[in-house]
Amino acid sequence: MPALAIATDLSDDAHALVRLVEARHSCRGFLPTPVPRATIDTMLTIAQGAASWCNSQPWEVIVTEGEATNRFRDKLYAFATNQNWADQGNRPERPDFPFPARYVGIYKDRQRKTGWALYQAVGVAHGDRAGSGRQMLENFRLFGAPHVMIITTEEDLGTYGAIDCGGYVAHVLLAAQSLGLATIPQAALAGVADFVRDWFAIPKHRKIVCAISFGYADPEHPANSFRTTREKLENVVRYVG
Ligand SMILES: Cc1cc2nc3c(=O)[nH]c(=O)nc-3n(C[C@H](O)[C@H](O)[C@H](O)COP(=O)(O)O)c2cc1C
Repeated sequence: MPALAIATDLSDDAHALVRLVEARHSCRGFLPTPVPRATIDTMLTIAQGAASWCNSQPWEVIVTEGEATNRFRDKLYAFATNQNWADQGNRPERPDFPFPARYVGIYKDRQRKTGWALYQAVGVAHGDRAGSGRQMLENFRLFGAPHVMIITTEEDLGTYGAIDCGGYVAHVLLAAQSLGLATIPQAALAGVADFVRDWFAIPKHRKIVCAISFGYADPEHPANSFRTTREKLENVVRYVG
């Protein structure tokens, strides 16, 4: 993210938060180095501070370590590469929560801009569908991360349970950043919910919100060489006096 246009007279707390928010970005190329269990525990303990409606704390998390990550990665990648992703009339995604119906207008613009930035970074030319497909499939290799977490919510808590999990995800991302870890939230894995559910024996009443692959960033990986931007405040905030 570009430097946030904010006041300079900030408290140390605000400075620390701004530093973390500005430094965090989605990582799509990890080193294989595992994260110590104590560090993962610290990250997840910080994230437990997330707010939720009625303090219901609907999130539950599965975290892979060691060979369990590789076993999952290998089977997930094999499963995903056998799907016919190119056939738009037969989308293989079967998420527990419906994916966005469409991106139009500014949403389409932002989606395109982010996609192009990624493809340019990894050397996929405009219109190279095979290349963009290969990059998309990297989701299912967990971008080489040594760990993935699967975040689920309770079916009965509905949309607001999923909203609470979104807040939890944001806490995980910033907690990880504060500990020197890199992350990528992934709806892609929610798109193959049945596979993920079977693999980890997740009960039917637990709905898969998303995954987060995490570990240490590979600073040399081209996919990590671009940053996204954000809309100007005046375009998203309406003050009413
Ligand atoms: C709920 C959620 C799901 C996401 N799913 C994916 C995904 O499946 N694959 C991917 O490459 N990025 C995914 N992202 C990452 C977004 O593309 C990224 O957050 C966005 O482009 C902003 O970039 P930044 O995270 O670097 O600031 C997801 C992000 C969120 C919050």
